Amino acid sequence: MKAPSQRLPFYPQEKRKQESKNGGRDCSFPFLIKGKQLLIEREVNPFGKGAIMPFGLVSAWNKRRRSKSQDHTDPWVYRTVEHWKLEDQAPQPPKRHRGSSVFTLKEMEEATCSFSDENFLGKGGFGRVYRGTLRSGEVVAIKKMELPQFKEAEGEHEFRVEVDILSRLDHPNLVSLIGYCADGKHRFLVYEYMQKGNLQDHLNGIGEAKMDWPLRLKVALGAARGLAYLHSSSAVGIPIVHRDFKSTNVLLSADFEAKISDFGLAKLMPEGQETYVTARVLGTFGYFDPEYTSTGKLTLQSDVYAFGVVLLELLTGRRAVDLNQGPNDQNLVLQVRHILNDRKKLRKVIDPELSRSSYTMESIAMFANLASRCVRTESSERPSMAECIKELQLIIYTNSKGLSMPMHALRMV
Ligand SMILES: Nc1ncnc2c1ncn2[C@@H]1O[C@H](COP(=O)(O)OP(=O)(O)OP(=O)(O)O)[C@@H](O)[C@H]1O
Ligand SMILES: [Mg+2]
Repeated sequence: MKAPSQRLPFYPQEKRKQESKNGGRDCSFPFLIKGKQLLIEREVNPFGKGAIMPFGLVSAWNKRRRSKSQDHTDPWVYRTVEHWKLEDQAPQPPKRHRGSSVFTLKEMEEATCSFSDENFLGKGGFGRVYRGTLRSGEVVAIKKMELPQFKEAEGEHEFRVEVDILSRLDHPNLVSLIGYCADGKHRFLVYEYMQKGNLQDHLNGIGEAKMDWPLRLKVALGAARGLAYLHSSSAVGIPIVHRDFKSTNVLLSADFEAKISDFGLAKLMPEGQETYVTARVLGTFGYFDPEYTSTGKLTLQSDVYAFGVVLLELLTGRRAVDLNQGPNDQNLVLQVRHILNDRKKLRKVIDPELSRSSYTMESIAMFANLASRCVRTESSERPSMAECIKELQLIIYTNSKGLSMPMHALRMV
């Protein structure tokens, strides 16, 4: 691992000193969302002040924040999403959905029967999520920003990144953004409705029957495809790191197609760069890439680590962090990583709710091996998402062959 000083070659200390004198780019309010997100101030712009950055909205927002002294307009006055983007953004791919519609507060209230309890789906760090029905009759999920005043600026940032990035993406394993509402201080994100909710609820939740092994493999493959699409340059011309991949951000459709959600922390990787150096660590406890947290070096492999944690949740049915366990057993990775390649011990950590007739030990062992490589401490030793897809396809094949499943069942994944 490199020393911290070697990690910031393109951000000279001179410049940093000058900027902090100007009250420039430091945005120093570390905070905790729902006790989960750790924000440690100030991101580093490797291109220097005023330079055109190859990632759109994030820098547009930072620029706007920095030039506040010259910009006396009210930050809460609504501006169209086009206004947030820089001219140098990559051309937009054709949209699967009809794009980002803009809604009024009244439409949001109508859709959710004034945010009634019956329509309440869940609550996250950004606010509550409601089921809604648009005037067109389409059923959607509406996320309402509800943050205390001191977190509003960060919330606004996440809102804009989410709209900017999601409206440019188009993949069956990413949740579609139907539109948004930015009416006065009110902020809403309108998504396609995912009937089966989030993956974590299925693994640890109450009620519904637990998912069997082929279904878990299908979900893992779907999520891997979504991440691989983000990591490839095919999405917006440059790779994107999700930075908050976790089982609550894997949403499931009626037929258990996995779709990744929540792009508020996503980062577009500058062209030709494999690492993006940040001085603030964002994400969720239990999914943090140890290399990223200790060095601030954000890479595509940070998502691979989080993906490995989700694989472990699928395998064990346990939570990434379980505060009900003793101090040494709270973190899933630390708890199981040493036995993932030991077949005998591996049996002990398989989710007891998993139907024995749905899996072969061969496929479990292959899956555990893949998970163990994804959560390696050294990011360079982790597989790429493209490799994960190939291995998961092989695991699905191995399992179905071992169980002598008919070929048409295989074609479904
Ligand atoms: N498009 C959607 N369709 C159906 N349910 C959704 C949708 N988006 C979110 N939800 C549900 O709303 C709840 C809250 O989601 P949200 O993304 O705000 O928080 P989270 O991912 O659980 O946590 P955090 O904010 O810490 O990342 C989740 O339980 C999720 O299942
Ligand atoms: Mg979420």
